[in-house]
Amino acid sequence: MERLDKVLANAMVGSRKEVVKLIRAGAVHINGTALTDPSAKINPHEASITVNGVPVFYKEHYHIMLNKPQGYICATEDLREKTVLDLLPEDSVPKHKLFPAGRLDKDTEGFVFLTTDGKLAHRITGPKNHVNKKYYVEVDKPLHAEWAADFRNGITIDDGYQCKSAFFEMLSETACHLTIFEGKFHQVKRMFEALGCTVTFLKRVQIGSVLLDSSLQSGNFRELSEAEIALLEIVPEEYL
Ligand code: URA
Repeated sequence: MERLDKVLANAMVGSRKEVVKLIRAGAVHINGTALTDPSAKINPHEASITVNGVPVFYKEHYHIMLNKPQGYICATEDLREKTVLDLLPEDSVPKHKLFPAGRLDKDTEGFVFLTTDGKLAHRITGPKNHVNKKYYVEVDKPLHAEWAADFRNGITIDDGYQCKSAFFEMLSETACHLTIFEGKFHQVKRMFEALGCTVTFLKRVQIGSVLLDSSLQSGNFRELSEAEIALLEIVPEEYL
């Protein structure tokens, strides 16, 4: 059971202050009866809720796929830099509760998963959970097909850390896909540095079994479906 004002604020009916006003004014009906006490407890999963006669569909959490452009950092606030939250509008998503699950560098593009659900974020980014993240990578020097074995065996990066097994698929002389299962600072760039080349373009294209929606323009976002939310944690068979 949850407080009525909290449920309505979570459902994006308005700010906590605004929904309290609506409730006190008798605009909110629960199962057909006006409830005027903002602290009244309801079961948001079962109650039929209307505000001024309009049904409200309750959502406990919000989950968003963002196609991040370069120039934005993965943080919720920053004094100098633009953050991924600057790309979201105020009115349709609870911006103040969303945070990026995992980070992309300022100059990396692509799939950022933003959520209000800390537990889910942890399952996707936690180092013990090994959820795959796939990147499209361009480098400044020719790639070599034999590197697939080096990536599989674990590349040792500059600080001596031996990365976990990764999947390398060459797409052209200087472009490839790389799938990793962990998220050390600048990891993909450092893995290629260890092989003597510099990453010139980096874009995350997949998390778990969910591909970045190709119809999402850079800087745009959409909510994930229930099915996609479940698939975020599922490592595709090809990597097992
Ligand atoms: N690896 C990197 O080097 N940078 C990113 O943004 C993501 C993975």
